[in-house]
Amino acid sequence: MFKIKKAEFLSADVKLFEIVAPEIAKRRQAGQFIILRLDEQGERIPLTIADSNPEQGTVTIIVQGIGKTTKSLNQKESGDSIMDVVGPLGKASHMEKFGTAVCIGGGVGSAIAYPTAVALKEAGNHVITINGARNKDLIILEEEMKQFSDESYITTDDGSYGHHGFVTDILQKLIDEKRELNFVLAIGPIPMMRAVAEATRPHNIQTVVSLNPIMIDGTGMCGGCRVLVDGDSKFACVDGPEFDGHKVDFTNLINRNRIYQGLEQESLKQHECQLLEQADKKEE
Ligand code: FAD
Ligand code: NAD
Ligand code: FES
Repeated sequence: MFKIKKAEFLSADVKLFEIVAPEIAKRRQAGQFIILRLDEQGERIPLTIADSNPEQGTVTIIVQGIGKTTKSLNQKESGDSIMDVVGPLGKASHMEKFGTAVCIGGGVGSAIAYPTAVALKEAGNHVITINGARNKDLIILEEEMKQFSDESYITTDDGSYGHHGFVTDILQKLIDEKRELNFVLAIGPIPMMRAVAEATRPHNIQTVVSLNPIMIDGTGMCGGCRVLVDGDSKFACVDGPEFDGHKVDFTNLINRNRIYQGLEQESLKQHECQLLEQADKKEE
């Protein structure tokens, strides 16, 4: 069992957890993830390690509640436990002094980009962060990002905060201003990562994206996380999750992620019915 030391909502559906996992905290590097299982019957889900504290033996994860498992996880509080936590998994982000590095996070993708953006700063890069969300209330890690960024931008789809529009508007503006951009990291919804890759492709700017296929074992054995990169099959759990954005087949990723959509919606519906029943019983 892995104890939750801290649990706090960053926005309505996004919750930060510090979990006691000393062996993972000691070894983890930026870009790596864990796979957890809440209980005996639970499914295994991958979550990026947003931060770690080797002295306290904790790892931080930031979770968007979108389906049965993430919503159940986000009901947990400090003092509760998680049955299994395995990691660190995946390849660490490739780190070097590129020059100017732009780190783009869309929605909860900002939490996933955060550790790599910090590592890029520590490697001596001039770091520009672009953090986007649908509205002001959904912006996460704004202050944390600002602290280490040389330049930081916020965008909202509805214009309630920062630039009114998509994260790609700011990227395009930097490109149009002929800023010398040497490296771009983009993490968020698949259409966003694809749009970033298309914006940088004509300018030959090295672009890395972090892929989110369905994962099961996380060790390269099951084939669940197969993605197409430059026409080759890769397993995101061991060959990634970060890949060259100009070589990823995003259509294939979208189609594969849709395979279980019906079952996922059914499972969420059942979970929500169970919660309602429990609430009714409590009231009686
Ligand atoms: P479901 O209703 O089961 O699924 C919702 C959607 O999540 C699906 O359409 C599918 O695209 C995806 N999904 C479902 N099961 C899996 C699975 N076993 N593996 C991967 N994707 C799945 N989310 C965060 O909020 N924070 C993170 O830091 C984060 N890091 C990730 C790192 C990696 C390497 C990957 C691959 C995914 C990451 N995700 C992260 C996404 C997270 O794993 C999914 O949101 C979660 O698995 C959904 O499970 P669910 O039961 O709540 O939802
Ligand atoms: P969202 O749909 O609210 O989008 C966040 C931001 O991304 C938007 O504000 C916008 O700036 C940008 N964006 C979205 N679509 C775009 C497009 N077509 N072109 C340019 N920019 C665009 O995000 P959310 O609801 O917080 O969901 C987060 C998403 O991240 C989910 O789709 C989830 O599947 C995905 N995700 C990805 C990873 C990963 O490792 N890549 C991990 C977890 C979740
Ligand atoms: Fe099974 Fe990657 S999750 S091979």
